Amino acid sequence: MTWPACATEPARTPPGPELLPRVGRDGSFSLYSLGVHEGFHSATGALREAHEKFVLPAALERFAPGRRLVVAEVAVGTGTNTAAMLAAGAAAGLELDWWGLELDRRPLALALADAGFRAQWPVAVIRQLEELTSGPRLRFGDGRHRLPELLGFLGGRCDLVLLDAFSPPRCPQLWSLEFLERLVRLLRPDGRLLTYSSAAAVRRCLLDLGLDVRAIRPAEGGSGRWSAGTVAGFAPLAPHPALRPLEPFERQHLASRAGLPYRDPTGNATAAEILERRRREQEHSPAPPGRLRPPGGPSGLGRS
Ligand SMILES: C[S@@+](CC[C@H](N)C(=O)[O-])C[C@H]1O[C@@H](n2cnc3c(N)ncnc32)[C@H](O)[C@@H]1O
Repeated sequence: MTWPACATEPARTPPGPELLPRVGRDGSFSLYSLGVHEGFHSATGALREAHEKFVLPAALERFAPGRRLVVAEVAVGTGTNTAAMLAAGAAAGLELDWWGLELDRRPLALALADAGFRAQWPVAVIRQLEELTSGPRLRFGDGRHRLPELLGFLGGRCDLVLLDAFSPPRCPQLWSLEFLERLVRLLRPDGRLLTYSSAAAVRRCLLDLGLDVRAIRPAEGGSGRWSAGTVAGFAPLAPHPALRPLEPFERQHLASRAGLPYRDPTGNATAAEILERRRREQEHSPAPPGRLRPPGGPSGLGRS
């Protein structure tokens, strides 16, 4: 029996070993989902990815020490991004008012049971991670169904929203126009949405929703002219060494069929239904095919 890690069902007891522990090139703990056929992090490593795609682009130096940052995280998984953000926040003298959404209880449990994972952070960060994720701040279940709860009291209040779902072709439920439209309602006017995804469908949704969109620069040795992800906010994003404007080839890509959004008007569609609907829309679209790739870079659909 397969156990799709991206599903509409609430978390259940795992029937089999579909989540395989693996270690990234940076030596940090990660998981591979046999159900989704995708890693939780890029092969470079969970820690490096957390820093490159979430901590650095969050630009914590914008905030005065002592500030309490409101952070919402979608797809908490192993808690790597949470711990990285807690550690970086503490180093910057910031407190985190953190909230998370996650379907499956197992990734976090596996991480916290792993000595290598625990050794990645100071004891105080692990303790904080355990405290935050053991109470009502972490809402388990389908993120689409639990997001409204967060919107009820966090709407318009988040400094940072982290979106780290499996890639759009694997988990379109968490990248649909409808989900993104609700998700960005969490943001303060000067808040930022951060994601590793550079997918045209995601970027185009964010632009259409009225956000300023920047690409995350790949870390040194990264993937050529492609980007390491996307940052978006309602207010114009100040220049930052980790960010750059979208390049002309990326803007052109948004106008292709690749930029057609994933649609999930009911908030209950399966991944297969969302993908099929988009496939049909692409088939009938007058837009050019979305085959564009930057010289020397990967497609940008998954993790790089
Ligand atoms: C790429 S992994 C997250 C990696 C994570 N940020 C980390 O640092 O380990 C994607 C996560 O999304 C979760 N997920 C899948 N479908 C979901 C859904 N519908 N709602 C909420 N979470 C979901 C999976 O259980 C998995 O933990």
